[in-house]
Amino acid sequence: AEGEFGGNLKRQLEKLFIWAPDPNNALYLQLSLVASKGPNRKFGDYQCNDIVHRLLSLRVPGDYVEQIEKTVVENLPASEMVKSCSVTGPGFINVVISAEYMAKSIEKMLINGIDTWAPNLPVKRAVVDFYSPNIAEAIHVGHLRSPIIGDTLARLLDYSKVEVLRRNHVGDSGTQLGMLIEYLFENFPAVLTIQDLEVSYKLSKKKFDKDPDFKKKAQCAAVLLQNGDPVYFEAWARICEISRTESTKVIQRLQVKLEEKGQSFYIPYIPNMIEELTTKGLVEEMNGARVISIQDVKTPLTLVKKDGGFTYRTTDMAALWYRLNEEKAEWIIYVTDAGQREHFDKLFKAARKAGWLPANDTTYPRASHVGFGLVRGGEDGRFRSWYSKTVRLVSLLNEAKACSRMSLLKRGKDKEWTHEELDQTAEAVGDSLVKFADLKKNRLTSYTFSYDKMLCDKGKTAVYLLYAHARICSIIKKSGKDIDELKKAGKLALDHADERALGLHLLRFSETVEEACTKLLPHVLCEYLYGLSKQSSKFYKNCQVNGSAEETSRLLLCEATAIVIRKCFHLLGITPVYKL
Ligand code: ARG
Repeated sequence: AEGEFGGNLKRQLEKLFIWAPDPNNALYLQLSLVASKGPNRKFGDYQCNDIVHRLLSLRVPGDYVEQIEKTVVENLPASEMVKSCSVTGPGFINVVISAEYMAKSIEKMLINGIDTWAPNLPVKRAVVDFYSPNIAEAIHVGHLRSPIIGDTLARLLDYSKVEVLRRNHVGDSGTQLGMLIEYLFENFPAVLTIQDLEVSYKLSKKKFDKDPDFKKKAQCAAVLLQNGDPVYFEAWARICEISRTESTKVIQRLQVKLEEKGQSFYIPYIPNMIEELTTKGLVEEMNGARVISIQDVKTPLTLVKKDGGFTYRTTDMAALWYRLNEEKAEWIIYVTDAGQREHFDKLFKAARKAGWLPANDTTYPRASHVGFGLVRGGEDGRFRSWYSKTVRLVSLLNEAKACSRMSLLKRGKDKEWTHEELDQTAEAVGDSLVKFADLKKNRLTSYTFSYDKMLCDKGKTAVYLLYAHARICSIIKKSGKDIDELKKAGKLALDHADERALGLHLLRFSETVEEACTKLLPHVLCEYLYGLSKQSSKFYKNCQVNGSAEETSRLLLCEATAIVIRKCFHLLGITPVYKL
């Protein structure tokens, strides 16, 4: 379709700004562009603003900057993309995109589909490790971020033609399981419900911290379990089953797909891994434990504890080995709270030391930790299954649905719609509110949980986006035209300023998706989508569609907008509605 750059306008443009005037490449300039924002917009659609920096790094004296800029502009290869290119003072080159070119690209997308605008990544297969709750842990609002962010990243990669292995790295081994099982043996020898489990999860931890005898027993139990002791194994399997039933409810409700391969899955791969690391001379003995020491990191990475037990890190090392060697993943992405940064830092450094990962962390195979800020709340300012009173994630989603239903009822929708339409719309709106409220924030920022903020439907919220989409769809529907016929025969023109601005925003979809995906930042896409919704409302407010002289062209622009909005919804896990 669009060749090596997909639909990425920015990168296609940047190709024009590679400037190598002399054959020896003594002056080789490769400039980058940024989309103009705010007041800069009046100078052009894209700006080159790193030219001074680039020239200085080539030791070109400052006095020559403007002269070189002029030469770059004068010698710019002819391109149908560019309407004009100008220099506005030293350091700034501005590019105006041709409206005809934009119209043509959008027409092509309408015919060939939005997939032709997908980014091309140098990766064939990736693992996204997300959600990953601990066995027996109550799923509360603190668990919201990982499945939502992880799902979006998986969808972004999937759209970019990367095969994605979605992994639920459930915490189902180690000391925490030892303490849980011992506690259950003592207190719940017979029936076991999810409530028993959740209570025990909290209390076993308390007992572990207070009671040294229990601590020893629990550590012992962990080793027995790890070595496959039948009594412990049976208890473990039952606990996992009960816990799994509960934790998948949330995932199904969020419509997130993922496959469970918990920590315990990787235990069989540990012995060979340790052998490999030992042969490479990386494993040391330290106070009876076997460790890998890492440069610049104070405490080494413990592979085997003094009592023979494996740790969270041991299973993570084995999982990394497995993902690289057995699953042949080229990019492994871990979505957890930012508090685990050090853990992953250590893990990746150990993997580099072992030669599993290249020294440079931007070349593939690659491992990335996608950290996110805390959801604050609860008694001690943090949601922790161990200590605080928690808001269950399912309660939040149910509350969101109830609120959305209420506001639909207030607007009299029960008189217009069937019962089923009302229910489905309420759920779609409720879930989308929650997802977008989280995704729109830069993932590194922490926030305090509040029902009011989460369920607010004014301003930069999913309701605004869903409404913009429904509105565009109703314009198309009201026209009574067969849009597929229009796509084949109709011509698109972007003459009105608001048509042009909307067209340009559509063309920036591809570069935005690429940025969100390569930087692993979902809010970049949210920001884009919000801008697109604003731009589209401006367009239908100022440009009459149905019954105007430009009807065909404007219907095509509506259709292209609806397609791009829906693709963004899809990438963010938001269900579109057609009436709101
Ligand atoms: N179970 C862990 C927790 O609740 C998250 C696991 C993340 N994935 C990993 N490979 N370490 O904190």
